Amino acid sequence: MTDVTATPPTRQRPWLDATLPVEERIDLLMAEMTLAEKVGQTHQVANINPDDDAGEIASGRISSSLYASGATAGNERDEGVLVGNIDAAQRHAVKGSRLGIPLLFGRDVIHGHRTVAPIPLGIAASFDPDVAEEIGEIAAREAAVDGVAWTFTPMVDISEEPRWGRVAESLGETPVLSGRLAAGLIRGFQGDDPSDPDRLAACAKHFAGYGLAAGGRDYDTVSVGENTLRNLHLRPFRSAVDAGVLSVMAAFNDVDGIPMHAHEHLVREVLKGEWGFDGVVVADWNGIGQIVFQGVAADKREAAALAIRAGVDLDMVSGAYLEHLEELVESGEVDLALVDDAVRRVLRLKFRLGLFERPYAARPGASNAPTPSTRAVALRAAQAAHVLVKNDGVLPLDDDAGKVLLSGPFVDDGDALLGTWVLDGRGEEVVTPEAALRERLGDRVTVADGRFPDVTLMQARAADTSVLLLGEHRSRSGEAQSVVDIGLPPGQLELVRAVAAFGKPLVAVVYTGRPLDLTEVLDLADAVLVVWHPGVEAGTALADILLGDAEPHGRLPMTFPLSTRHIPTSTHQRPTGRLIRADVDHQEGRYVDALTYPRLPFGFGLSYTTVDYGAPVLSSATMTTDGSTTLTVTVTNTGERPCREVVQLYFRDPVAQVTRPLVELTDWALVDLEPGQARVVTFDVQAEQTAYAGRDLTTRVDEGEIVLLTGPDAARLQPVSVTITSPKASSACTGRPEG
Ligand code: GLC
Repeated sequence: MTDVTATPPTRQRPWLDATLPVEERIDLLMAEMTLAEKVGQTHQVANINPDDDAGEIASGRISSSLYASGATAGNERDEGVLVGNIDAAQRHAVKGSRLGIPLLFGRDVIHGHRTVAPIPLGIAASFDPDVAEEIGEIAAREAAVDGVAWTFTPMVDISEEPRWGRVAESLGETPVLSGRLAAGLIRGFQGDDPSDPDRLAACAKHFAGYGLAAGGRDYDTVSVGENTLRNLHLRPFRSAVDAGVLSVMAAFNDVDGIPMHAHEHLVREVLKGEWGFDGVVVADWNGIGQIVFQGVAADKREAAALAIRAGVDLDMVSGAYLEHLEELVESGEVDLALVDDAVRRVLRLKFRLGLFERPYAARPGASNAPTPSTRAVALRAAQAAHVLVKNDGVLPLDDDAGKVLLSGPFVDDGDALLGTWVLDGRGEEVVTPEAALRERLGDRVTVADGRFPDVTLMQARAADTSVLLLGEHRSRSGEAQSVVDIGLPPGQLELVRAVAAFGKPLVAVVYTGRPLDLTEVLDLADAVLVVWHPGVEAGTALADILLGDAEPHGRLPMTFPLSTRHIPTSTHQRPTGRLIRADVDHQEGRYVDALTYPRLPFGFGLSYTTVDYGAPVLSSATMTTDGSTTLTVTVTNTGERPCREVVQLYFRDPVAQVTRPLVELTDWALVDLEPGQARVVTFDVQAEQTAYAGRDLTTRVDEGEIVLLTGPDAARLQPVSVTITSPKASSACTGRPEG
C-alpha cells in the first residue's frame, strides 16, 4: 500500500532518470501515484497563484495552469505572465509535493508573444509555411523567457462564415492551406526537440467542426455529417497530428447533437484510435462543465464521466475532474484505465517538454522585446499578408501622387493594428502607418486620424491622393465577436463616397479580421489593399507596399462574398442536381434578385505586374491509384515589375462516391519572376492527393478522370484531365508482366 505521506527520496524517484525512455519513466511514476494524484494530473487552473494555491499544488491536485485574460477572444489585456509566480508555483510542485511532478504552464501565444505578427488569417494570406514557421519560432523563444511551455495554437477550424469572429484566428477556408501553414507553425513552436528551452508545445484547435457554428454565431450548434467533417474539417487536424502536434483542444460546439467534449467517436475512436494521436486532448475553457449547459449532462459529475470516456485528458478550469473523477472510479462508473490513459498522456507531454529536467522559466528576466531581427520576420510576414485586390494603376505611389492624405483611425493606433488574441504585444511597439509614411514622404503626407470626417474631407479635397485606412477594430474580431453584417463599420462607406466624389486617386486600405463586404469600396476606390491586422510592423509594411519598395503578393485565404446575404460562398461549393448556367459561367446564380458568385474568389490577389499562365501540361495522362504524374505550367511576367506569383493547383473529381467540391486547392508554388521572365512550374501530382472519405467513410482514391486546374485563383483556372487507373490495368497498358 502506498504511503501517501511519504515523499520518496530522489534516489527512489527513478522516473527522473532522463536516460530512460519516456514510456518507461511514465510507468515508473504512475506506479507510485495514488488515484488522487492521478486525478490531480487531469486538472488545469487559470492564472495560478503560488500563495493561494500552495496547498493544492503541494497536494498534487493541480497539473497545469494557463495564463489567460478573460479568455474571451484575447481582446482584453491581462497582467501578463508573472514569471515570479510561475517559478514560485513550480517550486511548490517540484519541491513541496510528494512526487515532485512539475506544473505545465500554457498561454494563448497565437501569432506572436512580444513580436506580434499578422493575425493567423493574415499569415494564411502569405501562403507561405516558412513564414508561419519563422513566426512560431520567434513566438516560442519569447514566450519561453516568461516561463510559458505550451501555446494554444494553431487554430485549424475550417470556415466559410465571415460573420464568425474566429475566422481571424484561422488559417483560411481550405484544408490544404490550413494544414500546411499549421504544420509550419507547429514546426516553429515545437522544433525538432520540444524539450529545447526555446520551444513550446503547440495545440491544434478546436476539434472539431467549430467553424460551422450556426449563423456564424460563436458557440452555436453544428449540424454536419461525418462525410463533410472528414472531407473538409478534420483534414487540417490530421495534418497537424502528422506534423507532430503535441496537443489538441476540444471544441465548444456539439456535432450533430453530441458535444465535442463528450464525443467518444471523434475524439477517442478517430483522433486517438484511427489516427494514433498520442498527445494530450485538452478541454477548452470550462468545456467539460458546459456539457451541462448543452443539456447532455445533469451535473458536472455526469459531465466528467462523459468527458473522460470521450477521451478528454485535461480539464481546463471546470473542476469537474478534480471534484468527481476519484469517486467515479471508486464507484466503478468510470474505468480506472480511462484515467490512466489521460494521466499517461499528460505526463508524456511533461516529459517530452523536459519539464522534469528544467521545470523553471528558461531565462527569467531576460528581454523578450522585439529586436531588429524579430521585427524583420514580422515585417516579411506583414508584407506577405498584404493582398492587393484592385489597382487601376494608382499604386505604387510615385512622385506623381503629389500631396498624400493618410486618414483613418488606424493611422496612429498601434494597439488596433495588433489584431485579436494579443496578450503580450504592446501597442507602443507597433510602427504605425503615420510614423512610417511621415518618415518616407516627409511633408508630402498629411495625416488625419478621422475623428472629424469633415476635416478629413477638406484635407482630401486639398490633397492629390487620398489613402483611407478603413476596416474593423481588432476587438470586433476573434472569440465571441460574431457580427450579423460584414459591411464596413458605420460611417466609413459614407466617407469613401465623399472622398471618391472629388475624382482624385483614392486608395483604400482595409484592416480586418474577416472577409468584409467590399463591393462598393471596390467600385469607388482606384486601389484596394486587404491587410488584416498586420502586427508590430504594420506601418512599415504598408509604406513598403504603397511606395513599391515591396511587391504585394498576398492572396485571399477566404472567399469574399458579394454581401452578408450571400453567405455562405466559398470553395466548399459542391455540384448540385439542378445544373443551371451558373455552374458553367458564373454569370447567374440561384438568386433571381442578385448575382451569386463571390466578389473576390479564394486565392485572389494582384501584384504590380501582370502574369500570363500557359496551359497546364501533363507528363502522363494516366497514373495509378498509388502513382503520380507531373504537371507543368509556364508562367510569364509580362509587365515591368518583379513579382512573387502564387501559382495554384486545384482539382475536381467529376464522378465520386459522394459529391465533391467544384474546385479544391491541392497545391501551390511561390514563384519569383523578374520582368519578362518565364518559368516552368512543376507540380508532382500524387493520386493520393485526390483521396477522400467515400460513402462508407473510409479513405479512397477512385479510378477514373480527375480534372486538374491551374491558375492565379479559384475562379481563373485552366483544366487538364488525368485518368487514374488501377495498378493492374496500368501494367496491362504498358504490357509489363503481371505480378
Ligand atoms: C478560449 C478559446 C480557446 C483558448 C482558451 C484559453 O475560450 O476558445 O481558443 O485557447 O479559451 O484561453
